[in-house]
Amino acid sequence: MVCLGNICRSPLADGLLRKKVSENDLSIVVDSAGTSGFHAGEAPDRRMRATAKELGCPIDNLRSRKFIVNDFDTFDVIYVMDKSNRSNVLSLARNKEDESKVKMILNESNPSMDLEVPDPYYGGDQGFIDVFNLLDEATNVIISKIKGE
Ligand code: 4NP
Repeated sequence: MVCLGNICRSPLADGLLRKKVSENDLSIVVDSAGTSGFHAGEAPDRRMRATAKELGCPIDNLRSRKFIVNDFDTFDVIYVMDKSNRSNVLSLARNKEDESKVKMILNESNPSMDLEVPDPYYGGDQGFIDVFNLLDEATNVIISKIKGE
């Protein structure tokens, strides 16, 4: 799961998918990163943590890190939150195989529409709730597909 800062959107996507992977007894490694590295080592944004906890998916233990080229080797799928994240990650791709791993996460719930998870950083509380609902739905679809439903 990749966004810009790895303190709002991608840690929530990470936490939601990890929780659902665990609840469904799947053996899948989930992680998240930011393209910027501005917040490396930090816990998720206080407002994102509060919303996540209130809605049943605490993410206090996650820590921000920067996306690295090696992530293309470690992971089969790299979900990005918006088009800017996508172009930042694609700029690090070494070949077509790397490029093919990069997907807009909301295309899981809204196929082929290239919808973006809005960056809630500079907005109000509702933005964090909206992000939660969008990512909850998208991660439900990811789990259903993995389970072959
Ligand atoms: P995120 O949100 O990419 O969802 O983690 C942001 C967090 C921090 C900044 C921008 C977006 N920032 O500019 O510091």
